[in-house]
Amino acid sequence: EKGGFASFMEKEIFDQPAAVADTLLGRSDANGRLTLDELRITPDELAQVNKIVVLACGTSAYAGTVAKYAIESWCRIPVEVELSHEFRYREPIVDSNTLIVSISQSGETMDTLMAVRYAKEQGAKTLSICNTNGSTIPRESDAVLYTHAGPEIAVASTKAFLAQITATYLLGLYLAQLRGNLFQGQIKDILADLGKIPAKIQDILDRGEEIKAVARKMAQVPSVLFLGRHVGYPVAMEGALKLKEIAYIHAEGFAAGELKHGPIALIEQDQPVFVVVPSPRGRDSLHSKVVSNIQEVRARGANTLVIAESGDEDVRAYAEFVFYVPETPTLLMPLLTTVPLQLFACELASAKGYDVDQPRNLAKSVTVE
Ligand code: F6R
Repeated sequence: EKGGFASFMEKEIFDQPAAVADTLLGRSDANGRLTLDELRITPDELAQVNKIVVLACGTSAYAGTVAKYAIESWCRIPVEVELSHEFRYREPIVDSNTLIVSISQSGETMDTLMAVRYAKEQGAKTLSICNTNGSTIPRESDAVLYTHAGPEIAVASTKAFLAQITATYLLGLYLAQLRGNLFQGQIKDILADLGKIPAKIQDILDRGEEIKAVARKMAQVPSVLFLGRHVGYPVAMEGALKLKEIAYIHAEGFAAGELKHGPIALIEQDQPVFVVVPSPRGRDSLHSKVVSNIQEVRARGANTLVIAESGDEDVRAYAEFVFYVPETPTLLMPLLTTVPLQLFACELASAKGYDVDQPRNLAKSVTVE
């Protein structure tokens, strides 16, 4: 049932083109009109929403952070992302115009369930993004948008993460459509770009050996840092979490802009640093800022491992290793840039001889608070 792969985790990483394609399937028509009838929440109610609060834990919370960038950009609704277990202990401000979006692969995470219950009591509308049909969180929510990643067996989440991100894009585009924030043509174009993602993930998987070879050489490193900016920031956090979970290596993710505010002090000779670089295209100057960050850490001896967009030649001079991902619009980049980091963690943990599917001290669904 591992389909010829050494672990469920590796199989699930390779399932990701299908996880994204299946999550997109049947949710829009040929004109790019989204039809999320399954939502059980009326367009009128959704039109009233003036704030979104995403509640989730772990990897699912990083999907929520990606969602914040996309939904705020497309819908101009403020989006907060909060860890479920912090939310209800701080008297959060929510009311009937707040849309709570919980994200949970299992649908059984107790912290998230309790946070959703609390928000409901305060009168908020609750929408669950979930991978498990009929599980508790979607049952208790007003609305549900299922991810169609298929059952995820490995403890470390991979395909569910990409499917969650995909589902939040659908939600963001649906809200933008309802509220008239984007023209129908713009929505259609973004859906077309999303439709091209599965083949681009496949391209990355086909070149997986490039990053796996690097991972095998790094099996003995004591610590790895991950830097990212904008949507690359949650990707960096996710890259670090995967490594902690399955390879038991100290790993930390940072927003690249934060480097000079402290973390740069950690850089010493041979410290591995992954940098997720924004696209060099477009109007923003983030690309050159992050390239400067690569220079800064390298000047202090870091071993720089760069994830960049295909065609980005600027990074080469400062990178010990570059993994190129295909071009895609910035907001969709996490669906691609995450994949080499998953392959890296999986291969490194396997090289250390660990059971990547059943990491120590962790359970697939955390049903205690
Ligand atoms: C990461 C991981 C955990 C879960 C978290 C939330 O690989 O598996 O961080 O993402 O426990 O679980 P769900 O999404 O089931 O609520």
